[in-house]
Amino acid sequence: MKQPIGFFDSGVGGLSLLPAVSAVLPNEDICYLADEAFSPYGEKTSTEILDRARSITEKLLALECKLIVLACNTATTQVINQLRKEFAVPFVGIEPAIKPAAIASKKGVVGVLATKGTLNSQLFHKNSLENGSKTKFIEQIGTGLVECVENNKINDAKTYALLETYLNRMIDDGMDTLVLGCTHYPFLLPVIEKIIPPHINIIDNSKAVAQQIKRVLSKLDLYDASKSTATHRYFSSSANSSLKAFVKQPINYLPL
Ligand code: DGL
Repeated sequence: MKQPIGFFDSGVGGLSLLPAVSAVLPNEDICYLADEAFSPYGEKTSTEILDRARSITEKLLALECKLIVLACNTATTQVINQLRKEFAVPFVGIEPAIKPAAIASKKGVVGVLATKGTLNSQLFHKNSLENGSKTKFIEQIGTGLVECVENNKINDAKTYALLETYLNRMIDDGMDTLVLGCTHYPFLLPVIEKIIPPHINIIDNSKAVAQQIKRVLSKLDLYDASKSTATHRYFSSSANSSLKAFVKQPINYLPL
C-alpha cells in the first residue's frame, strides 16, 4: 500500500517546503495538516506545542503516514527530540539554516529572522554556538509576520512596515546573509527583496530538507520509487482554514 508523508505546521507556512519536496520526491503522496486552531506557535510554551504535536502525530499515524515532517522551525527546535523518544515513526524537522549561512557569509555577519519560540530554544542556541566562533548572528523576532501570511496580507502596507523595521536593524548591523528561520517567511520574499540590498544572500533550506526526507526514506527502505502519480491531501484543525487561499484542493476539517 502507498503510504503518505505527513507534514505539519501551525498554518500555511509549511507549504513553502512543498515545491522542493515535489521536485525531489515527485511520486510521494503527502498529507499536510495545518494546526490553525492553535496558531501561531511562536508565542506558545514548549509544553503546549508538545501537546499539540503529540495529537497531530496520532492523527497523521491514523492517516497511515510513514514519516512525519515538522514543517515548522518552532516545533522542530522545541519538541522534535521528545517526539523521537515517544514515537517509532521517523521524524524530519526544519531548523534555521545557521551552518550554510555561516559558510556563505563573506563578512561573517548573519541575520536570523525567526519566531520567539525558535530564537529562545536550546537547540537554536546550541547550533549557533557550534557554528558561531567566527560568525556574528543578529537575531530578530518576527512578531506579527506569521499573522500577515496567515491572513494573506503579504502585500499590505503594515506587512511592509514590519519587515522594514526588522530587516533595517540587521542591515544597519552589517548582515550580508539572511536566514529565514520560519517556514511562513518565504511567502514574504517578494516584499523582503524590495527592502534588502541585492548583495545580501537569502538562504533557502527547503531543498536541504527535501533531500534529508529522501535520505531517511531510502535508508529505511520507505522510498517510493514507483512512477505512480502523487496525491496531496490537506487538513486543518480550523473549520475556517487559510489554506484555501494557498492550495486548489479541498481542505478537510480535522479537529484536534
Ligand atoms: N511556521 C512556523 C515556523 O517555522 C511556525 C510559526 C508560528 O506559528 O509562530 O516557525
